[in-house]
Amino acid sequence: MPVFSTKRKLNSHLRSNSTKNHTIGLVPTMGALHSGHLSLVKKAILENDQVVVSIFVNPTQFNNEEDLLKYPKTMASDVAQLEAISDNILIFAPSVKELYPEGTQSETFNFNGLDMLMEGRFREGHFDGVGTVVEKLLKAVGPDRAYFGEKDFQQLLIIQKLVALKEIPVQIIGCPIVREPHGLAMSSRNERLSTEGRQEAGFIYRTLLKAKERFAKKSAFKVKEWVTRQFEQNPRLTLEYIQIADATTLRPLTRKQKGKKYRAFVAVYAEGIRLIDNIAL
Ligand code: PAF
Repeated sequence: MPVFSTKRKLNSHLRSNSTKNHTIGLVPTMGALHSGHLSLVKKAILENDQVVVSIFVNPTQFNNEEDLLKYPKTMASDVAQLEAISDNILIFAPSVKELYPEGTQSETFNFNGLDMLMEGRFREGHFDGVGTVVEKLLKAVGPDRAYFGEKDFQQLLIIQKLVALKEIPVQIIGCPIVREPHGLAMSSRNERLSTEGRQEAGFIYRTLLKAKERFAKKSAFKVKEWVTRQFEQNPRLTLEYIQIADATTLRPLTRKQKGKKYRAFVAVYAEGIRLIDNIAL
């Protein structure tokens, strides 16, 4: 499987005669691939002639140095998993210097408040880092479509905003969350949990499912209170936040309105690992 480490080589391959006029699907990742990523890759394969998977652990989106250092790097297994799916995938795995020749600085974006709450509030600078690297990746690859998981729902909306702001001609496609058998949303961070921790973390999704049922009859305030209590009674998980928000603007819900779509979002610590999840209500 071809692995390109420079924009120039990737581009000359993508624009060569063999692939000219082909539609390109990009799946941006930070590696440590799991079934969640593979579901994005499979969808991209169905919808495009050529698929590029980028593998790049982006330093500017980490506000915690230890998190960045501990981020799993599993290139050999990533390549093997992609090879098992299709021989029509290219990997773009640039160095930090290649993507950030002038130093690892984030651009500051105006995402119209989408980045103020939830992940934005608890991970300062995170979405400027995501916006910076996604813009670089989109410009380096020039895809027709780019695929992102709904597990990072706030990130997905911010990337849609980014391409509108920067007028980047690409279709951003959101894909459903893939879950482990016990319900935990797939994430590269799950590898850092013990077997019991992973099982225990299934509690997060079970609680979201019950919150969804309650939301049919109760106010957002009551549902948030109930979710908070459930986590208080579970000594192995610590809730950082529960938010119920408009699924388009991410503004916290104060009063339900007919015809509007809402989503519940949580961040939870399990064995010191920060996990996020969300559900359409
Ligand atoms: O979701 C991720 O893995 C990252 O935030 C992304 C989109 C690849 C940017 O580094």
